[in-house]
Amino acid sequence: MDIQNLIKNMTIEEKAAQMTQVALNVLTSAFEGDFTGPAQDSNISDHAWESLGSILGTKTAESVIATQKEHLERDVNHIPMMFMTDVIHGFQTIYPIPLGMGATWEPELMKECCAMAAKEAAISGINVVFSPMIDLARDARWGRVMETTGEDPYLNSLYAKAQVEGYQGDLKNKYNVAACIKHFAAYGAAESGRDYNAVEMSEHTLREFFLPSYKAAVDSGVEMVMSSFNTINGVPSSGNKWLLDDVLRKEWEFDGVIISDWRAFVEMIIHGFAEDEKDVAEKALNATSDIEMMSYTYAHHLEELVSEGKISEDQIDRAVERILRLKDKLGLFDNPYRATSTEEEKTVIHCAEHRKLAEKAAVKASVLLKNDNVLPFDNVKSIAVIGPFADCENIGSWRCNGKDEEAVTTLMGIKEHFDGEIYYAAGCSGDLNAKTDKALIDEAAKIAEKADAVLLCVGEKGKMSGEAKSRAYIGLSDAQNELIRSVVTANKRTAVCLFTGRPLALEYIIDDIPALFTPWQPGTEGGYAIAKLVLGKENFSGKLTMSFPRQTGQCPIYYNQLNTGRPFVDDVNYMGYVSMYIDCFGTPLYYFGYGLSYTDFEISNVRIDKNRISENDKITVSADVKNIGTRFGETVVQMYIHDVTASIARPVKELKGFEKVGLEAGEKKTVVFSINRDTLAFYNASCERKAECGKFEVYVSDSAKTGDPIEFVME
Ligand code: BGC
Repeated sequence: MDIQNLIKNMTIEEKAAQMTQVALNVLTSAFEGDFTGPAQDSNISDHAWESLGSILGTKTAESVIATQKEHLERDVNHIPMMFMTDVIHGFQTIYPIPLGMGATWEPELMKECCAMAAKEAAISGINVVFSPMIDLARDARWGRVMETTGEDPYLNSLYAKAQVEGYQGDLKNKYNVAACIKHFAAYGAAESGRDYNAVEMSEHTLREFFLPSYKAAVDSGVEMVMSSFNTINGVPSSGNKWLLDDVLRKEWEFDGVIISDWRAFVEMIIHGFAEDEKDVAEKALNATSDIEMMSYTYAHHLEELVSEGKISEDQIDRAVERILRLKDKLGLFDNPYRATSTEEEKTVIHCAEHRKLAEKAAVKASVLLKNDNVLPFDNVKSIAVIGPFADCENIGSWRCNGKDEEAVTTLMGIKEHFDGEIYYAAGCSGDLNAKTDKALIDEAAKIAEKADAVLLCVGEKGKMSGEAKSRAYIGLSDAQNELIRSVVTANKRTAVCLFTGRPLALEYIIDDIPALFTPWQPGTEGGYAIAKLVLGKENFSGKLTMSFPRQTGQCPIYYNQLNTGRPFVDDVNYMGYVSMYIDCFGTPLYYFGYGLSYTDFEISNVRIDKNRISENDKITVSADVKNIGTRFGETVVQMYIHDVTASIARPVKELKGFEKVGLEAGEKKTVVFSINRDTLAFYNASCERKAECGKFEVYVSDSAKTGDPIEFVME
């Protein structure tokens, strides 16, 4: 397509329309006829609406075909629209939430899941997915931690790359879609974990921890970037010229499309950063924002701004060129419908192959946190399945087209895979402020007593995490606490299955719980995965990628923190002048990297091949890992580095390598990592990324908590 020529023949009004995106219901309340939706009140001409560039939120092939067809009949330039939607953990076959996928420590598996989601989305007419969300998350109060892969920049970067590659493939394949990373940048650092809140941080912290995952996605060829709602040091991202133009475009050489978040343009006025809509449009264009989502400042003001000489038509042309180039790459000029197919919707979406992959992901995402000889239930004759989440779908938030009626509940999973007697009781409601109902709890305790073992499903409803779902207290409801205590009193062989979109703070009740695991929000096949794990037909292998605090007040809590001058002491009785609380310890309840298995592993003989490295040199770090239990299992061998002295204080530990290892009982393997100058580099106070000479420590272990340091020196 001769894009330059196309642009040459477009009016500014038509160009602004390419740069505007609305939800389908804004355009028209039906798929035919006049603009009957809120568009008619938008003060935009019918001609501009007829030239609209993209739509968000459609989910069926039928609506895409109807809308595109009608659009092409009206648009004088015959430019197809792009259709975009939020595909966070699957399109209709839903796999675990990204925080759960993180716990697999298998970027390749996540890539496969994204490719599956891309195919289902593409068939339903989607060209761009607003995914992956790759914000670094340290604060479990923030509801959107469910959308991330966790608190570590190294791991998040690997997942960012994998997800972009999974969605996009080479983009020529019609079953791939363009990915849109979000939310650029540092949206996850919202103060006090309150969604949309301000972000204040030094540039070197931003670059060291918060930017690497976005950079990894850009380096992997992501086609689109969504700017975030938040301010960074006072500047809202969609008008942040330094962030979008200087860093993203010039420094990282990103030449794709930048889209705003939902009405984030006009929120610049509320932030107190822009005076009015016209000022918004000027600031956003100067920052190189290409598409405005769900507001109309470009449509209303670009023409006027050009005539006043405040912006140039060239700037507009560059934005439109980026948008049209993406349409061209997607092949929409040749075939505006690409993979959209009502026929294939019936055969491909939620097909057996996709469901199998979602089940596998749900098995691998589940993390066993505690097990006092309770699990697996491989020798029991009866199981009581109890709890408000035992017989509901648990797909979680941001479910896209995921359907309750297609999801497998835990009770359904147990019924499918267990031959013995099964009892069921809800025990209480799963609502945030559920009141205790003694009769329901007594009923649950009664069936717990008569069963050989109990699977108790508690946690958070899907709708309690996700956007605008920050929580000031991240424990369980009183009703659920009482249910746990009554059921465990009735039957000590109780395993608690924690459905959650975030780490919860469970110190207050953990001693009452004999066994605990989390499948997170496991998706449509969750029930089968949980049943197989609980019955011992599958083994747990997930490891946390976000620390579980003991108490809410510890948030934000993350393993790669600075030491302070008075590091906390990992001793429950310590009450000295150190950096901890007088009513809570400094350590998390469960560390980053932690997760149990039905077998045990021993990591030994950690060694380095030399203890001094010079420039262009590398150190080889090796460790032996042995399955010392009685059955097959997988673990994640993790390598952490600590820069002992540097020009600025460095984290106590930083993940720099890992290997997921599967071993038969008694089997042993040597894992090998390598450290070079780049592994040791960091952003100093002047924001230069360099490795500094001096002393380092390396740890190899199975969580961020453990491991003995081995010293080496970089010369
Ligand atoms: C969210 C984005 C999402 C967009 C479009 C916003 O409210 O922050 O993550 O992509 O809506 O649905």
